[in-house]
Amino acid sequence: MSDSPVVPHHIAIVMDGNGRWAKRRFLPRLAGHKQGVDSLRRCVRACVQRGVSVLTVFAFSSENWNRPADEVSGLMELLAMALGREVPQLKKDGVQLHFVGSREGLSVKVSEGLAQAEAATADNHRLILNVCFNYGGRWDIAQAAAGLAAKGMPITEASLHAAMGMSHVPDPDLIIRTGGEMRISNFLLWQAAYSELFFSDRLWPDFDEAALDEALDSFQSRERRFGKTSEQIASAHRDPMPG
Ligand code: IPE
Ligand code: IPE
Ligand code: MG
Repeated sequence: MSDSPVVPHHIAIVMDGNGRWAKRRFLPRLAGHKQGVDSLRRCVRACVQRGVSVLTVFAFSSENWNRPADEVSGLMELLAMALGREVPQLKKDGVQLHFVGSREGLSVKVSEGLAQAEAATADNHRLILNVCFNYGGRWDIAQAAAGLAAKGMPITEASLHAAMGMSHVPDPDLIIRTGGEMRISNFLLWQAAYSELFFSDRLWPDFDEAALDEALDSFQSRERRFGKTSEQIASAHRDPMPG
């Protein structure tokens, strides 16, 4: 391990466990989602402090529409409310917001809120925060391929990447899932090809700075080989390319 900490450039998080957090307290599920917004605010700040450049979070999946109607509408309202409340501070903190996902099925109020929040923070450059909302990895690959096909363009790894919702950032170095489940649940299927994975038993509302640091420590101890051998990686560290 090197002496200086290797901070991942891009962290992506499946923020799971809000419902169980609420259930343990005999509260409605939405109370867990509200607490989840507070946890995200804390996590954004912690990532800025640690020098992370890009944070991507999974907030609502293509499949989450199948939840009870009152939970879905509660989540939509919570998003609209959180935007109104959080955007001024995000602006001050230098956070550039992006919403990644389909706008289909969203109310006019929610889609306008997303567009306004993106426009209001477009000139910020301290941290890029991608919120995957109404997002599925399969949706993203399919919509990118359909877009290329409609224009008669060749489908290559590069052209697909450019047509996908995360084309403005490099692939995540570290993907964290909270809440104890060890699955990807249709998150960043394409971009996760060489991400390091970290699973935390903490429920998302309980995922604090210490829990983030545990994930960062684990990341730092890994050898990322990208298909090469350990010896090749070691010699590249010893004799870095000139220039
Ligand atoms: C994640 O928490 C947030 C969303 C999917 C919107 P959950 O609501 O899935 O929480 P659990 O998994 O039921 O505890
Ligand atoms: C993944 O969590 C989606 C989000 C965190 C937004 P889910 O709770 O929907 O995933 P499953 O259903 O347990 O796989
Ligand atoms: Mg869940």
